[in-house]
Amino acid sequence: SKGDYAHFMEKEIFEQPAALENAMRGRFAADGSTAQFGGLNVTASEFRHIDRLMFCACGTAWHACLVTEHLIERFARLPVEVDYASEFRYRNTPLGSNTLFFVMSQSGETIDTLAALREAKRKGHRVLAISNVVGSSIAREADGGIYQHVGPEIGVASTKAFTSQLLIGAMMALYLARMRDMSFTDGVQFANALKAAPDLVRRVLDQAPNIREIAKRYAQSTDMLFLGRLSLFPLALEGALKLKEISYIHAEGYPAAEMKHGPIALISERCPSVFFAPAGEIFNKIVSSMQEIKARKGAVIAITTEGMQLPAGLANDVIEIPACHEAVLPIVAAIPIQLLSYYIAVERGCDVDKPRNLAKSVTVE
Ligand code: M6R
Repeated sequence: SKGDYAHFMEKEIFEQPAALENAMRGRFAADGSTAQFGGLNVTASEFRHIDRLMFCACGTAWHACLVTEHLIERFARLPVEVDYASEFRYRNTPLGSNTLFFVMSQSGETIDTLAALREAKRKGHRVLAISNVVGSSIAREADGGIYQHVGPEIGVASTKAFTSQLLIGAMMALYLARMRDMSFTDGVQFANALKAAPDLVRRVLDQAPNIREIAKRYAQSTDMLFLGRLSLFPLALEGALKLKEISYIHAEGYPAAEMKHGPIALISERCPSVFFAPAGEIFNKIVSSMQEIKARKGAVIAITTEGMQLPAGLANDVIEIPACHEAVLPIVAAIPIQLLSYYIAVERGCDVDKPRNLAKSVTVE
């Protein structure tokens, strides 16, 4: 049941600290420096020999795969490719013999993802799955995998399933990195950062009333942009998808620096932009992109790290997230865009849990 919440989506957003705890439980090695997964059915030496990973998924799970790509490449220095499951199954892409193939699907029933799994298996590859539903078609047909363990997700718009996929992707990156060049100390620090994620998420959830007020100011928009870089570029895509799905506002996600290659033509006082501007090496570059939007009269909603100073008058609204480890940043950054989309949709009177034209799992091609 929804308990005291107005919608399942709202309940599932607020459940995320507990969901993340559940997804992590029992999954850190005793020495605290790496992750461990029970059901992968891949030995350490087999893992040691892979030289590439491929992930296939759809929708929000595809965004989680893009973040996972970033983290595995960054920390384990292994090349990763991500494809839409629906494209992979028809494009006959070559898979090297040392490529490890993953599918990611919350429901485990998405037909395009199942077809991608079958295609990789047909080619003789071992296929692993990340899924939330025990015994789902994808979980049954995979050779091994990782369950998300976050309980049923009822809202059509994925929230807790998404952040738990991000967490598992980060744990995979830790596991693979520790088999390669990451030191014990860095591994412990990485693992401790993941363990702190539920508390950081809670701190962003505490800002829900503020985010609700911000949402009211933008609820009548017809278009919106979401902009982010590096590991938060996929979060920009996810923000745009979430908003489209439940509020029917047209939205697009871009890497912030791509604006000048076309999308900036859309900017006017009627098209606000949500910017991810976390502390980090390219903070100043993101600020320049904001200035370009501001110069064209576009409103800016900035999601930035506590304590960062944005130039006066640049952002119309600011949502602060706590400082955190790079591996945790995408999880923490997911919360403001979920809340913003949710409150905008509620403000518009939309049927948040059952948006038009959508089903919870897409079992037709
Ligand atoms: O169950 P899956 O993870 O395979 O679902 C994939 C997509 O259909 C799903 O993430 C969809 O994009 C959601 N409605 C997003 O909120």
